[in-house]
Order: sequence, then C-alpha cells, then structure tokens
Amino acid sequence: MSRRVRKAIIPAAGLGTRFLPATKTIPKEMLPIVDRPTILLVVEEAVRAGIEDIILIAGRQKTAIEDFFDVSYELEDKLERDGKLEYLGILKRVRSLANVISVRQKQPLGLGHAVYCGRSVVGDEPFAVLLGDELMSSRANEETTTETLAKTYVATGLSTVAIMEVPESETSKYGIVEGETMSDGTLRVRNVIEKPARGQTESRWALPGRYVFSSKIFNYLENTKPGKNGEIQLTDAMMQVAREDGLLGSRFQARRYDAGDKLGYLQANIELALDNPELAAGLKTYLKQLVQKI
Ligand code: UTP
Repeated sequence: MSRRVRKAIIPAAGLGTRFLPATKTIPKEMLPIVDRPTILLVVEEAVRAGIEDIILIAGRQKTAIEDFFDVSYELEDKLERDGKLEYLGILKRVRSLANVISVRQKQPLGLGHAVYCGRSVVGDEPFAVLLGDELMSSRANEETTTETLAKTYVATGLSTVAIMEVPESETSKYGIVEGETMSDGTLRVRNVIEKPARGQTESRWALPGRYVFSSKIFNYLENTKPGKNGEIQLTDAMMQVAREDGLLGSRFQARRYDAGDKLGYLQANIELALDNPELAAGLKTYLKQLVQKI
C-alpha cells in the first residue's frame, strides 16, 4: 500500500473558551492573522506538503469556515464587474487550494474524538493532523513541518509527530513525549503523557499539534476511554501507537505560534506583519517608537 500522505484532518471543533467573547459567534480558526484567517495558513501548510483532501472537523458555529473555502458567487461577480481582479484572484485561489470535506463533531468530546470523526473519510490511508489553532510559519524555501513528517512517514512507515523543546515551567500545558534520541536526531517515543503535573516527567519534548499517523490509530481511538479532563485524548491513542507499532518524534524548522492563546495570537500577528512587504516598514517604525515609551 502507498505511503503517500494525501489527506489531512484539521480539528476545529473546540469551544475556543480562551477567546471569548470573540469566539461566541466566530470560530477561533477564523480570527485573522494580518489579513488571512488562521485556518487558511494551516491549510496552506498542508497543501505545501502535498495534501489534496482536507477533512475539516467542525463543531457548532463553524459554517463560517466551510463558507470561507466555498465559492461566494455574489462577491466574486461584483468584484469581476468592478474590475477588482486582484481581489478576485485571491478569492479564487483560496477556494481552489484543496478539496475541503467537512465533518461535524456533534459534541466537543476531546481531540482524540475529533480525529476519530474523520475515520470514514480517511479510510485506510496514512493521514496528517494539523491543529487549526496552531500556526507553523515556514519561509518559501523551507520544508513545512507537515512536509517533514510526511517524508519521515514515507521513509520509515512509522507514525511521526512534531516535537519541540519547552522549558520545564511549560510542560504542564502540553502533551509531552518521552523517548530516546537516535543518531539522526529523531526521537523514538516510549511514552506519551497528557499535560503532566510538575515533576511527573523529566522530558521537555512537547507536542505542538502536527502529526502524521498510519490509519491503525483509528483502531486505538475506537477503544480509547475518556482520560484527562473527561476527554477522549489523542495522546492516549498515541501511547498505544508507540507501544504496538513504533512512534517517532521529529523536530522542525518553522516558527510556531499558539494562535488559540491571546499572547501567541498577538505575536503571530506582529511577526507575520513584519514579513509582509506592505506593512513591514511602517510597523517597524511604530514598534521602535512604542518600545521607547514602555
Ligand atoms: P484546545 O483545547 O486548544 O481547543 O484544542 P479549545 O477547546 O477550543 O480551546 P479553549 O481552551 O476552549 O480556548 C486543540 C484543538 O483541538 C480541537 C480545537 O478546535 C483545537 O484546534 N478540538 C478540541 C476539537 O476539534 N474537538 C474537541 O472536542 C476538542
């Protein structure tokens, strides 16, 4: 069976509690980073890795995401009639990026459950998972994080997840993996712990929300009982992958932002605006002036 990774699940059915009240009516994945919703940047990362089908796991009030990747007939028609062809081109590009298939997660029972909701669309192919509120920004000449994971999967046939080193004070915010670093720098994962309490692990390897799995993980998710916080945890099924089949951890080059967190969201906006030729000069001048005042 081919090891090519063609499908990606993007879970976007969380409640976005940390961004209330904005997320009362807008999914957090639609909040803009400069002029593009977070979810678009995530889909672009997937597409650069060769993903063709995006399986969006949507919850309540997520129709905005489905509509975003669909044709907006009236708007496109008006832009065409007004000769605003540059904007028309932007909209056409967005809706032609990938096939977006939307699946409802009827209740937010946890990330593991959200991923499981994509099972019937994924079938028995390997697939990527990209969290819809985590941003990985890669330069045009760099490999994207999902691309790195997919390449490792093709080469080894083993499920591979992105890992990053975090300070000890932050380990309790993440899923943490323990394991042995191999000669090529990849980690052979031995243990996966969801948001460990202080002192529960020596490991600093955190999971920032990018994964490539073989479809076998669905068999484990099917039998995963609610774990930490009463949620069906992806990390519990990953533990089984590590034990039964082998799981690798891979570092990545991209700059990563937690856009589901207010500070991370602001940092992403500032840094991506600094990359934008239209905004960089003006923003730099403003930031320098601001720093002198505070
Ligand atoms: P988070 O825990 O960061 O998302 O889940 P959340 O619940 O929306 O955030 P807060 O804490 O309430 O602000 C990580 C990712 O998993 C998705 C979320 O949409 C997010 O992308 N998720 C989580 C689901 O799709 N379904 C779930 O049941 C839980």
